[in-house]
Amino acid sequence: MSDMTALAELTQAADLLTQAKSICILTGAGISAESGIPTFRDKQTGLWENYRAEDLASIDAFERNPQMVWSWYQWRRNLVKDKQPNPAHHALFKLQQWAETEHKTLALITQNVDDLHEQAGSKVTHLHGHLWRNKCSGCDSPYTEPVDYSQDSLLHCPHCEGLIRPDIVWFGEMLPQQEWRYAEHAVNDCDVFISIGTSSLVYPAAGLLQVAKQQGAAIIEVNLNPTQNPLVDVELAGKAGEILPKLVDAL
Ligand code: OAD
Repeated sequence: MSDMTALAELTQAADLLTQAKSICILTGAGISAESGIPTFRDKQTGLWENYRAEDLASIDAFERNPQMVWSWYQWRRNLVKDKQPNPAHHALFKLQQWAETEHKTLALITQNVDDLHEQAGSKVTHLHGHLWRNKCSGCDSPYTEPVDYSQDSLLHCPHCEGLIRPDIVWFGEMLPQQEWRYAEHAVNDCDVFISIGTSSLVYPAAGLLQVAKQQGAAIIEVNLNPTQNPLVDVELAGKAGEILPKLVDAL
């Protein structure tokens, strides 16, 4: 894409945001990539290079081999623990503040389980759970004891002795109801929907873009490798950490 086209798209996106009363943003793993957290569809590295993330993040995998799945999450926690928000997270916090001053509604929804949006100061709704929380795989109670991320031993629930697992939505599981209802409401209400750093392959989150489009919202996509989704109205191709600060500056 030429610089002129990129500038025209950025201006068009800024105009849409300026005119909108209600904005809904969905982020995915791509927004944390520049903080050094690998995306899901990147090949895994190191110890886990022979596994696919999709094959470890499932209830079947945990039932078959809880030790392996727990060890993978402990490894991921060690990978993520020192990571910091990047300019994309900071820009979205600025966008939230701008929306508040302009009396616009802005819903920030993420599929990510890291807490980099929160670290940047944003209010965010997590559709796929939280990397730093745990719960019982048997009775579903939250597990609030401190967890030592440097070791891999399985932990047991103090109430029912069930195995402790990360509080993350796995393939084949329902999304948390309250968060999902919030997302559905936000998407039904928005004039502009921005999809950032997501491959839009995992449902039901990926369906939010379609719902937004059907009810008349303009769709903006920010992606290093655009998804080529024909529903997208404005394509901002490139790194979220480079594009989002420019978009916010253009407002
Ligand atoms: P994916 O790994 O599927 O997609 C990441 C997207 O980010 C791709 O489209 C990349 O082109 C894009 N990308 C990479 N670097 C970028 C950058 N610097 N700036 C902008 N875009 C960039 O991740 P998700 O779509 O988030 O689910 O995956 C969805 C869900 O699948 C995850 O939440 C997880 C996973 O299985 C659960 O854990 C339930």
